[in-house]
Formats: sequence, C-alpha cells, structure tokens
Amino acid sequence: MPRVALLDGPTPLQPMRRLAAALGGRVDLWIKREDLGPIAFSGNKLRNLEFLLGAAVDEGATAVVTSGRRWSNHCRLTAAAGARLGLDVHVVLSGPPLPHSPNRDLIGLFGGTVHETTTDDRADREAMVEEVASRLRAEGRQVRVIPVGGSDPVGAWGQVLAGRELLEQASALGFAPDEIVVPTATGGTQAGLIVGTRAVRDTASPWVLGFVVARPEAELRPMIERLLGELAAMAGVSTSTSDIELDSSQLGPGYGQPTGASQKAAELLARTEGMLVDPVYTAKALAGLVARVGSGELDGRSVVFWHGGGLPSLFEDLGREPPRAMTTRTSARGQAPHDLRGFGDLGGLAARREAAVEIEEVGALDDEQGADRNA
Ligand SMILES: Cc1ncc(COP(=O)(O)O)c(C=O)c1O
Repeated sequence: MPRVALLDGPTPLQPMRRLAAALGGRVDLWIKREDLGPIAFSGNKLRNLEFLLGAAVDEGATAVVTSGRRWSNHCRLTAAAGARLGLDVHVVLSGPPLPHSPNRDLIGLFGGTVHETTTDDRADREAMVEEVASRLRAEGRQVRVIPVGGSDPVGAWGQVLAGRELLEQASALGFAPDEIVVPTATGGTQAGLIVGTRAVRDTASPWVLGFVVARPEAELRPMIERLLGELAAMAGVSTSTSDIELDSSQLGPGYGQPTGASQKAAELLARTEGMLVDPVYTAKALAGLVARVGSGELDGRSVVFWHGGGLPSLFEDLGREPPRAMTTRTSARGQAPHDLRGFGDLGGLAARREAAVEIEEVGALDDEQGADRNA
C-alpha cells in the first residue's frame, strides 16, 4: 500500500513503575507513547495518515477533506501532515462553533481550512463534507475524502503495524504484554491492535481492552466489528467478534466531558510519572485502567496503556468555565498560574497550588537567610 513517512520510527514503550507502585504493585505497567512524535503534538492518528495520505498522493490528489468532532486530533494531524506534503486540507468539524478552541486554532495554523456545522448532528457534518468536496471538484481539484478518525481499512492498517511494533519492542525489553488498554472512539486503533498482535503471536496475543470515550457502544460495536473483519482478512489472521471488549464505564456524561475518575487518574499519572494525558480520550481510558487494577482482575499481568496523544485538549474549555482560583490568581513569581481548563479543578489542585506558593515564599525566605548565614 502507498505510504508516506510521518513518524520517525517506533514510538517509545516505557515502564510506569511509580504508577504501578501507587496502584498497589499488583501489575507490571507500561505505556506506549503515541503522544511522542515529530509533528503537531503527535498522536495515534499519524499511523492512519501515513497510509491515507500515501493513497492521496499516489492517486494525484491535491486536496483532502476530512471531518470529526470538535476536539478531533485526527483533524489537527491531517492539517499538519497535509502541510508537510503540500496538500490543501479542508476539515469539517461538528458545531455549534465554540468561541475558543485551541484545536481549531492549530488546524488553522497548519494552513487547514476549517468548516464548522451549526449543529452537533453527524448527518449535517457528512452533508457538509460532501458539499466541500463537490465545491473543490467543481474548481478542478483532485480530492480525496478521508473518513472520520481516519478509520477505514486503509488508515487502520497503520494500527495493525503498531500492534506488531509493540510486540517487537516488548520482546526486545524482555516481556510479553498480556493486556493492552486503549481509548476507543471510532474503533480503528482497537481493531488494528487486535489484528496486528494476533498476526505476531496468534492465540498468545494480548487481550485488547477498549474504553469507550466518544459514541455509545451500540453505535460503535457494529463499526469496529466490520473493521476487524476487514483488517483480519487483509492480514490473513483469524479473529472473532468476541475478541472485541468495550467498556463504557468511563464515558460519563459524554464526549469531551471530564469525569471525577478521569481527573483523578490524570493527576495520579502526572504525580507519579510526570506524564500528561488529555481529558477527552486518554484520561478516561486511564481511569478505566485504574479501576480494573483496583478490582484485582489484572493482578500479576503485564499491561500496556496506549497513550493516543491529544494533549492540546488540556487547554480546551470543554464546555465549562475554568475555575477562578486557577485563572485569576497571580503566583509569587508574578506569573498567572497554569490554566488547565480541560481538567477543571484537577481534584483540588488549585487549592494545593496556593499552599505550594506559600511554601515557596517561605522557602525563598529561608534560602535568603541561609545565604546570609553562609556569607
Ligand atoms: C488521543 C486519542 N486517543 C485515542 C483515540 C481513539 O482512536 P480510534 O478513533 O481509533 O478509536 C483518538 C481518536 O481520535 C484520539 O484522538
């Protein structure tokens, strides 16, 4: 299949020893850093785009049209990858338009044209994709339309290769994953990982557990079942619909709406490993991982958490006003405190930050006195 290179080789696979210890030392925890890559805050969708844009370039397209929900990392990455390849990128985002959206701004920064629907209705978005593509074709452009999330068999083939990559890396590090935990929106990543790992380890392949973060399971399941069948046929492996485990327990009120558990999980990761997850996709899957470890069902197993990227969403409003304490107070050093809008209050972080600033001031005084004493 035609492919363009958008990643600089394998993404890191790292141990999470302090998080594992904080969760009781019951599991061997790893993280696959799809958030670390060469362009546009990276993310799992670069893998799909390697093949989707490869096909676009191969067929002589000069413009691509894709679509997604407001905080679509796939749309941002399509704009960035398109810039790198000299393609004209049009992105249709679900509305209604928000006054402030860093993800939308970034798409514009990469030279993509953003079209927003007036509603959150999928049919409206699909109609606008058709309209934009027809207009471009009428202007004589060769256009490729890329599906939502890049999750057709061409795009999801990138995730099949990611599954293979993971097992090769793990083997070099001396372990074999028993489970992969992944956030699932369109299902392309989950289906690809099932097929890619099955192709390498057959019946001993890891179990892939998907936490639903975007659409209801009833809608998602038929999509992922179809994709799994198509990818399995392409790879020549045998899979069954019973290989697909979807867990909707972390979705909460819906797409892009943080939950208490996702905020706590993100905070725990930040404080044990110094790593960030985004509030729309990855934090919810992390909350699911924390809950499953807590239940004891993963005891003694090697688990790989799939970090899909999405970090710009940390700075989205996500439908709520940022807490006042985090935006109006000025720190001891005269800078506005960090405004992590997407996570709300991060479980009381604002209050603790205020306490920390006070400690910092006392510490600074101590240092000065120390300096005097040493002088
Ligand atoms: C950061 C992040 N993680 C995970 C996913 C889920 O991937 P998929 O759509 O293949 O289920 C997405 C999808 O957009 C994402 O942006």
